[in-house]
Amino acid sequence: MMSIQTLEQFIIEQQAQFPTAKGEFTRLLQAISLAAKIVHREVNKAGLADILGKHGNCNVQGEEQQKLDVFADNHFMDALKRGGECCYLASEEHEDGIDLTKGKHYRLGKYMVYFDPLDGSSNIDSNVSVGTIFSIYKRKTVEGELDKEDFAQSGRQQVAAGYVIYGSSTVLVYTTGRGVDGFTLDPSIGEFCLSHPALTIPKDGHVYSVNESNYNQFSSAIKHYLQYCKEIDPTTNRPFSSRYIGSLVADFHRNMIQGGIFLYPATVQYPKGKLRLMYECNPLAFIAEQAGGKATTGRMPILDIDPKELHQRTPLIIGSEKMVDMVEKYIHEY
Ligand code: AHG
Ligand code: MN
Ligand code: MN
Ligand code: MN
Repeated sequence: MMSIQTLEQFIIEQQAQFPTAKGEFTRLLQAISLAAKIVHREVNKAGLADILGKHGNCNVQGEEQQKLDVFADNHFMDALKRGGECCYLASEEHEDGIDLTKGKHYRLGKYMVYFDPLDGSSNIDSNVSVGTIFSIYKRKTVEGELDKEDFAQSGRQQVAAGYVIYGSSTVLVYTTGRGVDGFTLDPSIGEFCLSHPALTIPKDGHVYSVNESNYNQFSSAIKHYLQYCKEIDPTTNRPFSSRYIGSLVADFHRNMIQGGIFLYPATVQYPKGKLRLMYECNPLAFIAEQAGGKATTGRMPILDIDPKELHQRTPLIIGSEKMVDMVEKYIHEY
């Protein structure tokens, strides 16, 4: 009989190594897993619930919000506020973060959470996998209102990061800096159960993931690298396979399991890259590095970027170490 270890049991076991732990992080992860279960339920009956299609507003990104963007954002915000372990919440769907140290709020905690409540919105109506991404910091200041040093923390200072993929199954993957572990939701018992212990990303791979329609907008280095991917050379497993889902979480998770590389380089339309640093690139970069992979802008590690504003964007090249190294070699040469 396969023994079941739930997410909560796993965290308690992990925290046993920290006698001073007071269960705050356990409660924070419980809040996140509660919201993920609620989003899972809606995603899995999307066609039957009034949850498909556009919400009717544009968000701060200038994107048309989907109903599920707003649904997911509401439930993650509620769960994190009510969980009582946070002092700051920031979402892709809100122009400004919510500073819980200002004014009367639920019980205040020490965690700052940046999240993308629903990643891959363009795929919702076609029943393609979507996700949620979260990034967790501890406040630097001890009490009172948050200060600029709290917001200036680079990705290297995350205390935890994770994502949920709502696909053929719903899987929550996270790290606290001691490796990466994955948990699959068993809807029959309503628990995330350990399914991918000590997850590592293969050092090499033969899958590349990029929106090729942007080819003419890429730098010559990226164009040369993509030509390299297509050359016929059985000794280096080329041509590579091209896979592009259009949901970052789904493309990233595939590469975590099979090995591979995902690229969203700078384009004419997005000169600084399309993907957002604080709630897409930093959390996935933390996971990638903890799993033995790499994440770079092409010129520097994602985790070393100094954050300047909440919704700032960055180019992202992330995945198997040897494949990311090859892209950096092309960028260095061209
Ligand atoms: P979101 O749905 O949270 O706005 O993110 C969409 C992102 C990411 O999920 C995906 O990798 C990328 O947009 C796809 O962009 P293109 O459609 O330009 O390829
Ligand atoms: Mn969006
Ligand atoms: Mn996203
Ligand atoms: Mn989103």
